[in-house]
Amino acid sequence: MTNNKTNNHGISQAQLDAHWMAFTGNREFKKDPRIIVSAKGNYYTDSNGRQIFDGLSGLWTCGAGHARPEITEAVSNQVATLDYSPAFQFGHPKSFELAHRITELMPEGLNRVFFTGSGSDAVETALKIARGYWRKKGMASKTRFIGRAKGYHGVNFGGISVGGIGPNRAIYGQGIEAGHLPHTMINENKYAKGMPAHGANLADELEEMVALYDSSNIAAVIVEPLAGSAGVIPPPVGYLKRLRELCTKHNVLLIFDEVITAFGRMGSNTGAEEFGVTPDLMTVAKQLTNGVIPMGAVIAKQEIYDTFMDTAGPEYMLELPHGYTYSAHPVACAAALASLDILAKDNLPERVKSIAPYFQEALHGLKGLSHITDIRNYGLAGALSIGAFGADQGKAEPGKRPYEIAMKMWQKGFYVRYGGDTIQLGLPFTTELTEIDSLMNALGETLSEVK
Ligand SMILES: Cc1ncc(COP(=O)(O)O)c(C=O)c1O
Repeated sequence: MTNNKTNNHGISQAQLDAHWMAFTGNREFKKDPRIIVSAKGNYYTDSNGRQIFDGLSGLWTCGAGHARPEITEAVSNQVATLDYSPAFQFGHPKSFELAHRITELMPEGLNRVFFTGSGSDAVETALKIARGYWRKKGMASKTRFIGRAKGYHGVNFGGISVGGIGPNRAIYGQGIEAGHLPHTMINENKYAKGMPAHGANLADELEEMVALYDSSNIAAVIVEPLAGSAGVIPPPVGYLKRLRELCTKHNVLLIFDEVITAFGRMGSNTGAEEFGVTPDLMTVAKQLTNGVIPMGAVIAKQEIYDTFMDTAGPEYMLELPHGYTYSAHPVACAAALASLDILAKDNLPERVKSIAPYFQEALHGLKGLSHITDIRNYGLAGALSIGAFGADQGKAEPGKRPYEIAMKMWQKGFYVRYGGDTIQLGLPFTTELTEIDSLMNALGETLSEVK
């Protein structure tokens, strides 16, 4: 029987029941829903009319702030002009303009862009391009991937296979063949500010993997330059460079998953630029459209693109049998162009860089408060480990305290993300210093309230 009675959010129980929500404790949520009805600048408004600071920029998506008129206008004009055009065998002007614009923000050499519908799609696309590339090169046995413990690469089968967050993999059975490098969240790096000093040697574990699997069987290594979803793990000094050297030495592609780190959050256009290491393939999404319309992309080195072009037979043949109905969606392209315009016009990566030191000091100022076992940060990304550390994370009542902290913060008017045993912050690039102060005060107060 359907229950059509509405609660104080204007949503009926039947409506609540009908939606199986993503990455949400559905049973808990539906008892006391947290409903967001609008957003402007750095704030949400909930169904009780409360203003809530957006401490994770949506889901690391909306760094330029919400409801930017430039994006709203670009999207509505695009819907009125060309709402959809077939992604296969036909083009529209904005996708080419956007692809070129993206390449201008990339490190030298990454200059071919394949559009997808999301970050997870971008990861699958990159993995398929990597395997296809080696096959085209006559090395069809290079199929295995190397990810990293605590890595997050979306939720599709390839992504969870290379991903290293146990609970995201546990119930889904067999994935694709993948090994994992160790993570770099080690004791020596506790409370490091920015890039930690220790752990570059952990990249050398790739030598062990090559010894175990043989490079003739490995297609690519995939890492986030800064691991976001596991709780903001910046790369140790020298780590990414070492990984790059080893991938080159063993003829293995290096993929940077920059779904969180691209387009400003690190204080540069990309993590690759910020950390001075260029991968062979890069995945992006989220900030590309400021979160307004779903969109992802893979950016490839030209040699990879050329390999597909040169080995595909007659020119009417597809070079890469892959793509999505929503690849290069015109409305997403319009949103992305407007969003990248804002990034440049408002110098947002520079703004991130200029306020990151203040954020760092404020966040590390929480050291010593109850439950905190580590603090990490880079750019406008930061995280607290709560109650457990490293391999012990998630063992006792997984995520309970972070959940309680996040809920109390919500009550106080701050949205922060909890994941595993961490509280994660991804501030809007437009955050004011006074907002950082208020956020830290609320966090400090909350930590003392949680048992
Ligand atoms: C590094 C990374 N890769 C991939 C994804 C998946 O993106 P999406 O949720 O858009 O599929 C995410 C999402 O948080 C991410 O952080």
